[in-house]
Amino acid sequence: MTFLFHSDAARGAIFAEAFARELPEIPFSMDPATVDPDAVRHLITWTIPNNLARYRHLEMVFSIGAGVDQFTMAALPDHVKVVRMVEDGIVRMMQEYATMAVLSLHRQIPAYRAQQANGVWRALPQPQATQRRVGVLGLGVLGQAVLERLKPFGFPLAGWSRSPRQLDGVTCHHGADGLDTLLAETDILIVLLPLTPETRGFLDASLLAKLPKGAALVHTGRGPQLDHAALLDALDSGHLSGAVIDVTDPEPLPPDHPFWSHPAILLTPHIASVTQPDSAAQAVIANLRRHRAGLDPVGLVDRRRGY
Ligand code: NDP
Ligand code: OXD
Repeated sequence: MTFLFHSDAARGAIFAEAFARELPEIPFSMDPATVDPDAVRHLITWTIPNNLARYRHLEMVFSIGAGVDQFTMAALPDHVKVVRMVEDGIVRMMQEYATMAVLSLHRQIPAYRAQQANGVWRALPQPQATQRRVGVLGLGVLGQAVLERLKPFGFPLAGWSRSPRQLDGVTCHHGADGLDTLLAETDILIVLLPLTPETRGFLDASLLAKLPKGAALVHTGRGPQLDHAALLDALDSGHLSGAVIDVTDPEPLPPDHPFWSHPAILLTPHIASVTQPDSAAQAVIANLRRHRAGLDPVGLVDRRRGY
């Protein structure tokens, strides 16, 4: 019943300690070379190893991160459960990042940075938070947590998902019509959608055009969801006022990519949120206990939907 850890050694050491303390009955291995492949029931990894077929009794594959778009689902036998990472550390960091991004855009930091570069000392007209509408694409674990953290600031809040949702203090939309309504009523758009065939290239010129003039984008989903040229056009034409971009395609961007130096773009290297090994180990251990009790793990992926 071995649990195989297939990721960096520093995180692995923290997992090993937590397993030894809390789940000593499950052998824990970080070494595919010495593990008995027939004993491996659970694997945690960022990408699916090429030699996965050797683990003939595999039951669950855990992603070390919240996303599972990096998994080639077809490489996994149908009966294997795929579990994305749902843990407090990722949630907390995404709440911090989204709050930082929304406040930076709300308080016009890109414009003030440009003024600073040019030696300009000038106050810009400042709308109040109650006049700045924040919309979130994706009302899953992270989208909901971000909205919850933004509540005390007083921004009117809205969100969009595939299926209908009801969230306290958030105007919820879903489906194609719901998307158009949300976009038309959003001044700062946060993207927290998983990358699936449906969301690849989703943030294109036509979507950005549906935002009101002067709106801004926070992209924390996945790089291939955003059409870079469309964002640059929207910024350069003045339709959008700014963007905070954490994910790109490719990562990293080539040295001559315009995002590096665009005055209206705040670019970070996919650090909005990072799995925290202590809390991640606790989440995985809790899921193994659930599995043993015949329950579905928290973060179970619907392999047909891709998230
Ligand atoms: P969840 O699976 O909990 O939530 C996904 C949400 O997206 C759900 O509300 C779902 O709708 C909605 N959704 C999915 N597809 C569509 C669609 N086609 N149309 C409308 N809504 C859709 O994911 P998390 O909140 O945990 O994570 C979201 C993403 O954030 C991850 O997949 C990853 O890409 C990204 N991420 C980025 C990080 C970073 O550092 N930049 C770190 C961690 C995650 P419904 O509720 O109806 O199912
Ligand atoms: C994740 C990420 O999916 O870091 O966890 O993007």
